[in-house]
Amino acid sequence: MSSTLIALSTLLGLAAASIKSCPANAPISCQTSGTIQNTCCTEVQGQILQTQFWDSSPATGPANSFTIHGLWPDNCDGTYEATCDSSRAYTDIDCILQNKGHGDILSYMETYWKDYQGDDESFWEHEWSKHGTCYSTLNPSCYTNYQPEDELVDFLNTTITLFKKLPTYDWLASAGITPSSSKTYTNAQITNALKSKFGATPILSCTSGKLNQVEYVFNVRGSVANGQFIAVNPTGTKGNCPTSGIKWLPKDLSTTPEANEGSCS
Ligand SMILES: *[C@@H]1O[C@H](CO)[C@@H](O)[C@H](O)[C@H]1NC(C)=O
Repeated sequence: MSSTLIALSTLLGLAAASIKSCPANAPISCQTSGTIQNTCCTEVQGQILQTQFWDSSPATGPANSFTIHGLWPDNCDGTYEATCDSSRAYTDIDCILQNKGHGDILSYMETYWKDYQGDDESFWEHEWSKHGTCYSTLNPSCYTNYQPEDELVDFLNTTITLFKKLPTYDWLASAGITPSSSKTYTNAQITNALKSKFGATPILSCTSGKLNQVEYVFNVRGSVANGQFIAVNPTGTKGNCPTSGIKWLPKDLSTTPEANEGSCS
């Protein structure tokens, strides 16, 4: 291509934006000591949590699925930074996805990434600005022909891609653990059922002895946009569910809030 054509296609926004590629042997996050040489290829906050809600009342999402809470970057010691770049606190995420041709990601989010008050857009904006802007491997400098919000799309895509590989409800059901208003389960029953599928220990959270969140921890080789996620045990003691008597309540779908879907121009 001539330089005129390159200049023209850049002007028109035709040049394909993409994350710069990383070496296949890039150091795995949180598994290497010393200074990270390339923060686009080794995540600095490299202990990554895919967090999932179980909201039974108000209920969110399908009766037979957990829903997405977020994808959080923790430091290797379990502490974390938040709200790292207010200049990239994007709004109208639904419109951004539609305008960039990612209606498929949006419709998946509208089913599985639900706010308990029906305000999905605000919830996504919160998760992006608080956690998403902190990923070193999604920094705009990690892209060729970067266009604003490219890294947002990668964050959302990776979040739903990981979530699809972590079907908590199905994993529990296949171990005979199902939602019930009367039955109780031990912490070990739930933990072991999930651990046998995931390959590492998940974090269970409860409210008044009722299971309401599961978190899966990963390290990553390469970029969060397209790297290889590796299941790991959490750093330190986490989770607050009791050792026994845990309830997993069925969703009361009559309490599902109506979603406030916006419209894009
Ligand atoms: C989403 O991520 C997956 C896994 O990295 C990748 O195969 C797919 O191309 C991505 N989709 C988009 C729209 O970026």
